[in-house]
Amino acid sequence: MKIFRQGAELQKYALECKRSGKQIALVPTMGFLHKGHASLIDIARQRGDEVIVSIFVNPTQFAPNEDLDKYPRDFEGDCKLCEAHGATAVFAPAPEDMYAPDRSIWVDETTLSKVLCGKSRPIHFRGVLTVVSKLFNLAQPDVAVFGKKDAQQAIIIKRMVRDLNFPVEIVLGDLIRDTDNVAMSSRNRYLSEDERRRARSISESVFYAEKELKQRGVDAVGTVIQYAEQHIAEAGGIVDYVEVLDSSDLTEPTAESSGVLFAVAAVFGTTRLIDNCFVDMPGKN
Ligand code: PAJ
Repeated sequence: MKIFRQGAELQKYALECKRSGKQIALVPTMGFLHKGHASLIDIARQRGDEVIVSIFVNPTQFAPNEDLDKYPRDFEGDCKLCEAHGATAVFAPAPEDMYAPDRSIWVDETTLSKVLCGKSRPIHFRGVLTVVSKLFNLAQPDVAVFGKKDAQQAIIIKRMVRDLNFPVEIVLGDLIRDTDNVAMSSRNRYLSEDERRRARSISESVFYAEKELKQRGVDAVGTVIQYAEQHIAEAGGIVDYVEVLDSSDLTEPTAESSGVLFAVAAVFGTTRLIDNCFVDMPGKN
């Protein structure tokens, strides 16, 4: 497995791979990899001759009050996981290599990024889209794999690829949970044992919502939101949002919606967790 530290080196390698007719699959990550990331590398392995995993804690998607400095890192462990899952290259640049001090270009999205996480993280998706665009230019992927865990991120990246004509297919991997059903996340390592136990209220709310929405469609929206808000608050979580939106464009769902996204963000201790499910509406598919 190759390790690239410089964007220019990766780009040269990727262009050579392309010229020799190889399919490139890219998995962008911020490292501290777990089974959720591994499942995306497995998908990439099936889709590409070259599987490039990027590991970069992207400073531009963190606000000053967020956890950039304490974001967990384990480069050696990450490389082992990548190799075990068949990655052919890891790209781990230094922030100075990714961003010139006088950089002045951003990739921004103006509608989908205003709801859900965008309300409490107003600069987040601009940072994500900018770095993902750069990674696409450096790694030249035919396919890029993202997780449904970050549902809004996935939807916004698909919109960017459509609106800016990136020649890359976006593939989404299912949300992977731990044995206690808590959604896998690098940030779970901040949770105390007690917080972790209480955080199960989030996935319990997701499962309840999934069942009710599958059965009753948009009629269940009010009930599932109320249940989640109460259940998470009773477990000691501070709810940031619980929402059900049309999964095609993140607007209010209607009787015509063919699919919805149930999405939750809540804070346990000092850790902000997100979870969600996509549900096809009964009789609409
Ligand atoms: P990160 O949080 O490291 O996640 C990298 C990818 O792994 C994302 O596509 C995310 O949705 C996916 N992922 C995380 N946890 C998952 C889980 N439990 N199940 C399935 N997939 C999961 O998302 C980012 O990094 C960054 O914003 C990035 C896109 C790399 C841009 O900096």
